[in-house]
Amino acid sequence: MEFLNRLTKCFIISVALTSVLKDTPTDASSYSIKVKKYVCIDTPYEETKLLSCKSIPRRNAPTMVLLTLYVPKLYDHILVKVMLFFKFSTYQPFLITISREACEVIRHPPQFGIERHVYDIIEETLPEIITPCPIGNRTFNVTWYLHDRHAPKNIPAGEFKLQFQALAQPNVTLFALDVYFVVRNGGIISFTKP
Ligand SMILES: *[C@@H]1O[C@H](CO)[C@@H](O)[C@H](O)[C@H]1NC(C)=O
Ligand SMILES: *[C@@H]1O[C@H](CO)[C@@H](O)[C@H](O)[C@H]1NC(C)=O
Ligand SMILES: *[C@@H]1O[C@H](CO)[C@@H](O)[C@H](O)[C@H]1NC(C)=O
Repeated sequence: MEFLNRLTKCFIISVALTSVLKDTPTDASSYSIKVKKYVCIDTPYEETKLLSCKSIPRRNAPTMVLLTLYVPKLYDHILVKVMLFFKFSTYQPFLITISREACEVIRHPPQFGIERHVYDIIEETLPEIITPCPIGNRTFNVTWYLHDRHAPKNIPAGEFKLQFQALAQPNVTLFALDVYFVVRNGGIISFTKP
């Protein structure tokens, strides 16, 4: 029975993945994304100073995050990781696992696929952070929220975590954020937990 459940989920995920890659339009009326909270993780950071990280719920508007990060040093290489997790009984990696060197990406923005999608979102909503390297010697002060239109199309209904990490090579975390959100009624592709 457990096996059958897993098999069903695998099938649904591959269907979902296929529709994401095809970028099928979503029936907006049957689809909603709600961010529950933003959480800065792995704090305190060794080389940067997180001056604020506030998750701000708003009435009739998406939950927002207010971040202030002081980055005293300059960096020529910053590894950016973006991972999406879907909550089965625990959070499992799902659809998006990106690990790229940010300075290189800024020099040569990705042309296709999920990476292009993520880059476009950052370029649209946080243009001030896309500057040629070296990056640093400044305070980043941003307010941000995940728009409905940013989410991959036709992901299944359920609970998700989007994790963003910025690392100085090889393993010093400069900043890391978890975004918890819920997708409701993901069109035809939706399922409930057993
Ligand atoms: C850092 O920025 C200040 C002004 O914002 C500048 O005077 C200084 O030279 C910069 N330091 C480095 C290492 O770039
Ligand atoms: C960051 O920006 C907000 C408004 O955009 C402002 O109220 C706040 O004082 C700023 N914080 C810093 C440390 O610059
Ligand atoms: C990075 O890795 C080195 C060796 O693997 C270790 O000594 C160091 O403590 C690590 N730093 C962090 C911030 O994890």
